[in-house]
Amino acid sequence: MAHLFNRNVLLGVSGGIAAYKSAELVRQLQELGATVRVVMTRGAQEFITPLTLQALSGNPVHTELLDAEAELGMSHIELARWADLLLIAPATADLLARLAAGRADDLLTTVALATAAPLVLAPAMNQQMWRDQATIANVAALASRGYTFVGPASGEQACGDIGPGRMEQPAIIAAAAAGVFENGLLEGKRVVITAGPTREALDPVRYISNHSSGKMGYALAQAAVDAGARTTLVSGPVNLSAPDHARVLHVESATQMLEQCLQLLPECDIFIACAAVADYRPAAIEQQKIKKGPEHINLQLVRNPDIVAAVAASEHRPFTVGFAAETNDLLAHARDKMKRKGLDMIVANDVSNRSIGFNSDNNEATVLWADGEQVLAMTGKSAMARQIIQIIARQLGSPAG
Ligand code: PMT
Repeated sequence: MAHLFNRNVLLGVSGGIAAYKSAELVRQLQELGATVRVVMTRGAQEFITPLTLQALSGNPVHTELLDAEAELGMSHIELARWADLLLIAPATADLLARLAAGRADDLLTTVALATAAPLVLAPAMNQQMWRDQATIANVAALASRGYTFVGPASGEQACGDIGPGRMEQPAIIAAAAAGVFENGLLEGKRVVITAGPTREALDPVRYISNHSSGKMGYALAQAAVDAGARTTLVSGPVNLSAPDHARVLHVESATQMLEQCLQLLPECDIFIACAAVADYRPAAIEQQKIKKGPEHINLQLVRNPDIVAAVAASEHRPFTVGFAAETNDLLAHARDKMKRKGLDMIVANDVSNRSIGFNSDNNEATVLWADGEQVLAMTGKSAMARQIIQIIARQLGSPAG
């Protein structure tokens, strides 16, 4: 059964009589596990009040594009990045036309342009409007961009006509929204992903570590699960809940992470090294807490094993993907790392920018492989993870990739 646990669904409501069904849709999405925020067009507010949808969703409803106060709360760009899915229900004929033309003349159409999240549309309009050549062309244009349509259903309409144009039932729309995340791109594949930091102990109470939150690696695990892969996450210490249906193996140090990954190799088709592994560890771990003493003490460090390089050099190597966390000369350093470590692909991210990379909700990256590259514009880590999984599937020749 498809679900929406840990998903942020942005529900767009445009101005048609079916807008009253959006209230029930919010409930259905929440029942599938989603966190819901709502954007309403001006027309939608003629049919149902923002207050109703605010009370049901438990979040403020967004209505204005050019409102300084609203933008201070959560700007249209932040909303676009927050969304794992943009669901527009009802989508009127006018809204479809504006989306097809790429307009950004209100908050909803602007967010639709600004988001990298998948888009699901539940059209609702008079049957003759649905059959009109202009609407047919708009629907075809939007479908060719990869947007998913749910409905419309056929039957008696509010205006008395009979035919196609009724908004689909909320339960069916919610199930279709959940289905978007199950794309089968990596069906039958076994994926191992490292995530989070490692901790290199100095004594029983102290360690060396870094600021990795695990968000990027956990998002990749969720995207791999959604793509149908049997997914194992080898995780350093983080504060995140396990992605649904992924196996999570907890480790602390680089040495433990390497051991765990090597054990998993016989059941691994794709290896993604997203962990920020400490390059060095203390040469010795003191058995007792190090006491405060002289003004200066020396710490001797030794090199940690390189996990991703060891995986890439193994006899039956999986398709091996690394990350490159760089603060300068991003692409040159990333290409060099890909070559030195023997990787099939590398995701280069600039960690000098505090709004992306370590411990942020967003990321921006360039994915490099032997004879190509793809730039991934700044977006939420979930959306980025889905794009990375798509690129991997394409490189592996998945028919759907
Ligand atoms: O966890 P978040 O807060 O969401 O942040 C995400 C991230 C910034 C940690 C992530 O996007 C990222 O860049 N991960 C790789 C971090 C890193 O250690 O990069 P690196 O350039 O130092 O290492 C290159 C590659 O070698 C990485 O795939 C790394 O996992 C791997 N490596 C490094 C050292 C080592 N001893 N063993 C390894 O396998």
